[in-house]
Amino acid sequence: MIEKKYQFSKESVKVYFDAGFEALQELTDKENTILITDDNIFSSQSGRFDGWKTIVLKAGEKFKNQKTVDEIINRLIELNADRQTFIIGVGGGVITNITGYAASVYMRGVKFAFVPTSILAMVDASIGGKNGIDVGVYKNLVGVINQPQFLLFDYTFLETLPEKEWINGFAEIIKHACIKDVNMFDFLKEKSLGYFRSSLENIGKLVQQNVEIKYNIVANDERETGDRKLLNFGHTLGHAIENTANLPHGSAISIGMMVACHISETINNFSKVETEKIKELISQYHLPVSFETNKEKAWEILLHDKKKSGNDMNFIVLDEIGKASVKKIPLPQLREIFNSLS
Ligand SMILES: NC(=O)c1ccc[n+]([C@@H]2O[C@H](COP(=O)([O-])OP(=O)(O)OC[C@H]3O[C@@H](n4cnc5c(N)ncnc54)[C@H](O)[C@@H]3O)[C@@H](O)[C@H]2O)c1
Ligand SMILES: [Zn+2]
Repeated sequence: MIEKKYQFSKESVKVYFDAGFEALQELTDKENTILITDDNIFSSQSGRFDGWKTIVLKAGEKFKNQKTVDEIINRLIELNADRQTFIIGVGGGVITNITGYAASVYMRGVKFAFVPTSILAMVDASIGGKNGIDVGVYKNLVGVINQPQFLLFDYTFLETLPEKEWINGFAEIIKHACIKDVNMFDFLKEKSLGYFRSSLENIGKLVQQNVEIKYNIVANDERETGDRKLLNFGHTLGHAIENTANLPHGSAISIGMMVACHISETINNFSKVETEKIKELISQYHLPVSFETNKEKAWEILLHDKKKSGNDMNFIVLDEIGKASVKKIPLPQLREIFNSLS
């Protein structure tokens, strides 16, 4: 087990890499702890939850909403949860997001932690303290920024993660490479999904590297006034098509990253050759690079995006692979570029 401590503005978060789920018993008082997971994880990892008070939610993004939060709150009341209760989300990004949010509002906030079980939750959703829910088609519209007490990484959970969820998570890893780490980009190019799936050691190292990339960005800019915005690379359009086209998050942001590359070519002198390299890497990890979408509908949702400020949209562009920046694009110009994309 590798133990690290990450410092945020107000609190610090302990991170246990390469840990066993059993270690949870030493980190928390079992009697005072409630686990929250979803029915897929609960059934594929049965046994792990024995002896723990557990709230099992229906799996899926469509349940990441206020109705499920109400359900969690009712279950917490039934379980006599009070201010001393510790809540641990064991699951993918949906579970970590909704757990962090529910714990932050229950009795004005109780302590919580995460055991991320999907690649996406490990490298992204569980880190940084953003916890929230969707409202209709608007992703993560309601939420808080609140750090968990700790993160426990037990890579053996990945043994039951379906292949499509592995693929989904690699979109965020590719995103990190594009905005921050050209060496990781080249490393990913050399390897394959099979290489990472074949050994927990291989994937463990990559996960840790990605946690550190995200942590370094977030720790310096928790409230997203600067560098943290870069993590939205591919996400502006990605979020818009994710719900309209009902695509998995990773697929939607892969397409979003390709659009952002084209926009970077138009307004930021980003090289076509690099766009091509990114396209190849995305395809190499079995992610899509284009998709038929209802442009009108996607545009409408885009306009509601939280990255809009007045008549401009803050858009993340690439300067080169491994380096990104924020550019304000006037909406009419963005609309023109958007319409011209095939
Ligand atoms: N807060 C943030 O900063 C942030 C960042 C990125 C993504 N997110 C959010 O994360 C969510 C997506 O995360 P996700 O892709 O992990 O979704 P998810 O939680 O829906 O998990 C994907 C699927 O994999 C299953 N699963 C997870 N771990 C498993 C395991 N070990 N074995 C078997 N099945 C398993 C789940 O049941 C689910 O069906 C989105 O809601 C997105 O908005 C948040
Ligand atoms: Zn994402």
